[in-house]
Parts: sequence; structure tokens; C-alpha cells
Amino acid sequence: MGSFTKQKSSYIRAIFTFGVFFLFMFFQNAVIYVFLKQSADSSRGGLCACDKCVTDLNDKDWFILRFNPTVPFLLNRRNSVLRASVYRWWTALQRESSKVNYTDVVDTLFSLFPDKEHYSDAGPDRCRTCAVVGNSGNLLRSHYGPLIDLHDFVIRINMGPTEGYEKDVGSKTTHRILYPESAVDVDNSTHLVLLPFKIKDMRWLISVFTTKHITHTYTKVRPTINANRDKVMIIHPEFIKYVYESWLQKHGRYPSTGFITLIFALHICDQVDVFGFGAKGDGNWHHYFDKSLTQFSRGPHGGDFENKTMNELLLVNKISMHKGWQ
Ligand code: C5P
Repeated sequence: MGSFTKQKSSYIRAIFTFGVFFLFMFFQNAVIYVFLKQSADSSRGGLCACDKCVTDLNDKDWFILRFNPTVPFLLNRRNSVLRASVYRWWTALQRESSKVNYTDVVDTLFSLFPDKEHYSDAGPDRCRTCAVVGNSGNLLRSHYGPLIDLHDFVIRINMGPTEGYEKDVGSKTTHRILYPESAVDVDNSTHLVLLPFKIKDMRWLISVFTTKHITHTYTKVRPTINANRDKVMIIHPEFIKYVYESWLQKHGRYPSTGFITLIFALHICDQVDVFGFGAKGDGNWHHYFDKSLTQFSRGPHGGDFENKTMNELLLVNKISMHKGWQ
């Protein structure tokens, strides 16, 4: 009887020891698993669900010094009050022909267009891929169309058409960035994104959807365009100043539409692929759709510095560049 009790208690001890050992191994492995998963996440960025994310835990100082995740990129009523320095800088870009009250204009804007906070959904589960499509002639014969259309967002700029050029530039347009002097019709599913260089640009947008009376800024502009009012967005004036100061270190007088669009994409996308950027060998900005040429070093934009910054973005793995064949 005594030996039976002894045997029983040694069984219980063995089971208990095994149980403790099992639990120890289980928790140890769980800790190792969590640790390995966290370091795998941090080595691939872990801040979005793409393989490569715009914002990354391992970002280089060069990028951290320039990228400000808190800057307002799209205007709404709540963020519309401008600091005096922003207001002064922005209203000096293109001279206003008449005195207008910015606050009244913003009020009218958001009685007509969506007053929302857009794209505040970044996180570890989102992988939003974006194609930024500039207007360079290097798109011709590129056959990039199908590749461009694979992106979640396809952001086009100014007048760059798709019709007739689908093979090289694609056919999808989710966003079109424009200003009055570069305006074209956009289809019903596309976001018209106004890039305002002056208050009159905002008044023009209001006029397009109401009285249609604004026909002239510093040049003739279209009094009306086709666009979906519920999809209108407006770039924040502070964002333009931020691009100029943080990203262009004040080179040129103000950034080009294409460069602002590229930085805008860095703020709303997780992965950015760039198409249709690049001058001809002689420094002229040529288009894939017309014969116009702009010598960018003589214009208001610091074209060389914009190129330099884009190359740096490429080097630190924040964008991919598709340069075509010309
Ligand atoms: O000529 P446009 O301003 O409409 O072109 C849109 C943008 O595409 C430009 O602001 C510029 O950033 C880019 N572009 C370029 N090389 C060209 C033509 C345009 O990088 N040859």
C-alpha cells in the first residue's frame, strides 16, 4: 500500500513537472514568435501592408527631415484658417487682380463641395498603390498603359489625355490635378483636385459649378467644365508652401504641378510609382500629346532641383521611376 502511494505520488510529480515544462516551452515559443514577427514587420516597414511602404520604421534622416506627416494636404472648413505667413506667401505667388475675402470664399466652397477629412485611413492593414502620371513625351511608345491601370489610384496632371494614348498612358484616372488655366473635362468617377495658386482659382471653381462668369484670370480660362461636384477636392495652400520649403529648399519661385502631385501622392498612398516625368536632352519639357515645349530652367519652377529631389526619393526607396524610352 505504502509503495503504491509512493508510486502514485511520483506519477503525479512527473505529470506536474511535464506540465510545467510544457507550459514553459509554450510561453517561450510564443514570446520568440511575437519577437520574430515584430522584427520581420519592422524590417519591412510594418506601417502599411505593401512590401515597400512610403512611411517606414527604418526611414533615413534625409526623408524624415522633409516628410511632415501632420501637414494638411486637402482643404476643409476645419483646417482652412491660414497662418499669416502662409497667407502672405500663397497670395504673393500669382498676383490677385481684386481684393477678395478668403474666409467668404472658403465658406462658399464648402457649401458646394464635400467638406471631409480625406485619406486619414493609413495603417498596417492598408496597401494603397498609386501611379503619378506626368505629361512627359517619354511616355510615347512606352507601353506602360496596362501597368499604370493596375494601380489603386491613377493620378493625372493638367491636360494629359488618355483617349488615343491608352497603350502608353492607360485609361484609368482616379484623380486629376488641375488649376483654371490647365483645366479639362473630367469624367464622373474622377476626383477633380484643384491646385489653387491664388484665391481667384477657388472663385473660378465656384463659378464653374454656379454662375460660370469667370472667364479670365491672367489669361483666358474655361468658364465651365464637366466634373462631378461630389468628387471635388482642393489642395491646401499650406501644402504648397510645405512642398516649396521642405522638399525644394526654396529653389525656384514655387513648385511645378507635377512635383506637388508627387509629394501629395507620398502623403495619401503607401506605394508610389512615377511615370511621365523627364525633360528632353535639351532641358525642354515636352508632352506626349502635343508639340509644346517649356524650358523649365527659365520658368518659375526649380526644375533641376525637382529632378535632384526625385532622384534622392528614388535612392531612399520611396518612389519607383518609369522613364520610358526617350
Ligand atoms: O506640362 P505640364 O505642367 O502639364 O506637365 C505636368 C507635369 O509633368 C509637370 O509639372 C512636370 O512635373 C512633369 N513633366 C516632366 N517632363 C516633361 C513634361 C512634364 O517632368 N517633359
